[in-house]
Formats: sequence, C-alpha cells, structure tokens
Amino acid sequence: MAVKMIIGLQYGDEGKGRAVHYEAKNASIVIRATGGSNAGHTVVANGKKYAMHLLPSAIIRPEVLSIIGPGVVADLEILAQEIQQMREANIKVERQNFIVSERTHITFPHHKQLDRLYEMLKANKVGTTGRGVGTTYEEKARRTNLRMHDLFIEPSELKSKIQENLKVYNVLVAEANKQIEQGIYTEEKFPIITLEEEYEYCMKYKESIKEFVADIYPILDKAIQKDEVIIIEGAQSFWLDNDHGDYPMTTSSNPNASGTASGAGIGPTLVKEVIGVIKAYTSRVGNGPFVTEQENEIGDCIRNWGHEYGTTTGRPRRIGFLDLVMIKHTKNISGLTSLCINHLDTIGKLDKINVCIGYKYKGKEIKHVPIDKQNCQPIYQQLKGGWNTEGITSFEELPKEAQEYIYFIEKYIGIPVKYIGVGADEKQTIIK
Ligand code: IMP
Repeated sequence: MAVKMIIGLQYGDEGKGRAVHYEAKNASIVIRATGGSNAGHTVVANGKKYAMHLLPSAIIRPEVLSIIGPGVVADLEILAQEIQQMREANIKVERQNFIVSERTHITFPHHKQLDRLYEMLKANKVGTTGRGVGTTYEEKARRTNLRMHDLFIEPSELKSKIQENLKVYNVLVAEANKQIEQGIYTEEKFPIITLEEEYEYCMKYKESIKEFVADIYPILDKAIQKDEVIIIEGAQSFWLDNDHGDYPMTTSSNPNASGTASGAGIGPTLVKEVIGVIKAYTSRVGNGPFVTEQENEIGDCIRNWGHEYGTTTGRPRRIGFLDLVMIKHTKNISGLTSLCINHLDTIGKLDKINVCIGYKYKGKEIKHVPIDKQNCQPIYQQLKGGWNTEGITSFEELPKEAQEYIYFIEKYIGIPVKYIGVGADEKQTIIK
C-alpha cells in the first residue's frame, strides 16, 4: 500500500488536510498535485491554526518531504510568503523537507488581472477566486507560460519568454480598457503590464525559492522502489473538475483521481488507496448548480456552526444537505476505496437531517447525475440528528444516531468510512 491519494468529492473545502495529516504519519513524501493558490488548506494541530494555499499541508511534519508537483501552478509571491510565515511559526521549511518541481507553472501578476477581465466579460460568472489560477492553466495550454525552471535560464532568454507570454494579455487589455472608456463595463481599468515588471517579479522571489526547485522524478522513483509511503494530496474537488464536474462552473484543472495522479507524476496503477473526503453536508463557494442548497435558516445555522467562510476569499459559503447521488457518481470515476467524513459534529446539531438519495428529473426519479444537474430536484430521506460528539474519540462511543448516519452513507456509496471529523482540531478525529 505504498501510494495513497486524498481527494475532495464535493466543491472543495471538505477538510482534506485532516486525512492528509493522519496518512502522512507513515509517509516519507506528501505531494500536492493540482490547482494553485485558489486552494485554501486549513490544518489545526496542537491548538494552532495554519492556513495554507500552496504548501502541502504536511509541511507541519518536518520528517516528511513535502513536494509541489508539476500539475500545480504557483504564485511566487504567495509561495515566498507562506515559506516565510511557516518559518516565523517555527515550522521547518528547508530543502530537506520541501521541494518544488521545476515543471510547476508560474502564476504571474497579469494572470490575476486576466481572471478579473474574463469575469467582467462573462454573462454567466464563475465566481473565480481571482488568484489567476485558471488563466495560468490557460497560458500553459497555449504553451507560452513559464515554469520554475525558467527562473534559472539566461536573463535574456527569460525576458523573451516573459515578453511572449504577455502579448495576449496586453492586446486584450487595450480592447477591454476601450470598452470601459465607452461605458460598456463599469469595472476599473486594467493595467498594461510590462516585461520589466514581470521580470522583476521573477527576480524578487527567485531568491527565496531557488533552493527548493528540483527534478522530482528521481526522488519519486527512489521512494517507489523502496516501497515508501507516498501521499498524493488533492486540491479543489471532483465537482470542480473541468472534465467531469459542473462545467463551465469549474476550476481549470482535473481534481479527480486520475488528474491528481497525473499532476503528481505517479501512474494510476501505483495508487493503492483513494480516500474521498466529504462534509456531512455540502458547501460551495462560487456559482454553479447546487441541488440540495438551503437558502434559509437551516443553511444559515449550518454556516455559522461550521464556520463556513472561504479560507482564500472570506466569502460566505453556500450551504446544503448531503447529496449522496453526487458522491456516488464520483466513486468509479475516481476509483474510491474509502471515505473521510468531516463536520459530523456540525450536522448533528440539527434534530432532523435530510440526505439526498435521488433526483427528480424530467418527470422521473433518477439515481445518477445528468449533465444538466441544475434541472434536478432532490429526493430526501430524513435521518435522526440531535447528537453531541464532544469528547468522543472512538466510533463505538458515538451516539447511535450519529453511527447510523455514517452507516447510511457507507451503505449508499458502497465503500467504508475511514476517518470521521468531529471538530476542527486534528485530534478530534475518529478512526473507524
Ligand atoms: P478558480 O479556480 O479560482 O478560477 O475558481 C473557479 C471556481 O472554483 C469558483 O467557484 C471557486 O470558488 C472554486 N474554487 C476554486 N478553488 C477552490 C477551493 O480550493 N475550494 C473551493 N472552491 C474552489
């Protein structure tokens, strides 16, 4: 069981860090595979809260080698800041316990402006985090973007690559600013970004990053050969997947299991365990279909009880009941082997809990997710809530209703639950 993967199955923010933290106890490597600083990973350990966007959450374990993989896109400023913040908190971040793939793409200042520009132009807004992640992937796909490796090439070569990468942005900005001047859009004008600015950006952060940039493949090969435990840490989540999720209300990478394996640089047959992380209800930041959404007092209560405000943007999250149809849909596409369920304490505060077990769709009852998920209405089964998990550390101690909630999920999805979260601290984890 050497390579294990942890991915989200809903709309992100499920608390993947908890499962990563536990699995990392036996691991030699934890590798983050997709997304960029749009992700917000909160790890609470020893009473301290660590909010990270780019660093793998295992960075708080100095004995583990944390890697940012080739499928990630990295904002140099945020990466440098996070390294600094961790060091200030006395968390070791050295070449020994942290590396970044030389193939990891760089998010530049103009990528964030592009995020804003596209949202301005779109009638149907995605609600992007504005961190320039989708637009970095776009320029990667256009094959002009720069990778970590490029920070170390000849300055003249680096400059010409930056110039090439900036061309499309500045052409778009000229036109967008014209339309703003004409009053077609009310958005603030977009800055022209120069080659010098982005070259400076590279030089400014290169110093704090250079010791970490490396070729990760020989390191992974060695660990695989020695059958060491490697954890692949997913970011975002299944329903934000650009191929299989709620396209176009998605992120720009592939956070399903195959995309996550690819982003790490580890083949699918080597992955022996895929742990899917969910909340005991559903939350979503940004726009897009949400079949079980509760825009009412129940939603407000869950949001407050579960502190459901975005780590990255601070936006209040949209809240709904657990949608098991949506979770089961991910089972084969991501080859799941077990589940981690977080916020069991939060949902237990409700006396009666609805769980979605089917959809009404075009006059029929269905148990799969159609492409136009927004046209589905939920079919609920009501389960008993009203439990308190305080101080409970084992599954056997959980109130009967809480156990039944877990059994119900296991039976519906057809895989076992491995971890249960009953509070924000890592210690408030029940291993089933
Ligand atoms: P982008 O990836 O920042 O462009 O955002 C696209 C959509 O994915 C928006 O609805 C975001 O709120 C959502 N999103 C991106 N990353 C995360 C995440 O880590 N957690 C939750 N939602 C995310």
